[in-house]
Amino acid sequence: MRLFLAVKIPDEIKGSIAHFLEPFLGIRAKVKWVEPQNLHLTLKFLGETPESRLPDLKEAAQMVAIDPFELTLSGSGAFPNLKAPRVFWIGVKEPEKRLTQLAEQIDYNLSQFGWEREKRRFSPHLTLGRVKDRSGLAEVCRAFEQAQFEAATYRVDSFYLVESQLQRSGPIYTDLVRFKLD
Ligand code: 2AM
Repeated sequence: MRLFLAVKIPDEIKGSIAHFLEPFLGIRAKVKWVEPQNLHLTLKFLGETPESRLPDLKEAAQMVAIDPFELTLSGSGAFPNLKAPRVFWIGVKEPEKRLTQLAEQIDYNLSQFGWEREKRRFSPHLTLGRVKDRSGLAEVCRAFEQAQFEAATYRVDSFYLVESQLQRSGPIYTDLVRFKLD
């Protein structure tokens, strides 16, 4: 099973993001934009995982000790930068670093069950699109630099174990387990 842990985006905010993305979809460029229903904040990508690892995985996720918190999606940009983008994103404002703490606790808890720790620091972001090749990219970048995503705040009270099935048309995500924060 190809798995990851993620925080969801409320449908209403997915709608605002879909609206924000509309102008970019019309540009002929090789960017794979995320389907609005698939938008999520990745906490930890687990990749191919045997089903036998699920009990440990659930236990590690349940050990998380973080209260529900507010998160603001605001601003947009690209990794590594808008001159040579590979990933377009919307930013995450988390003044109390709760999303980061959540990701770090998950990473640590999983390491207690034998998963490898992340080598890179957690970088909170909401992936909007991935660059497939550079054709048409300059126009996307120009439009992206001018675009404004109006900040949206919501309360995070849970995170999910999600299965990703890769299809030609794009990934299909299925929620397997919901972990409540409290
Ligand atoms: P990101 O978009 O937030 O960077 C599900 O595939 C999610 O896992 C993606 O949205 C991606 O998060 C994250 N991910 C991290 N490493 C990955 C990898 N090697 N392959 C696919 N997804 C990865």
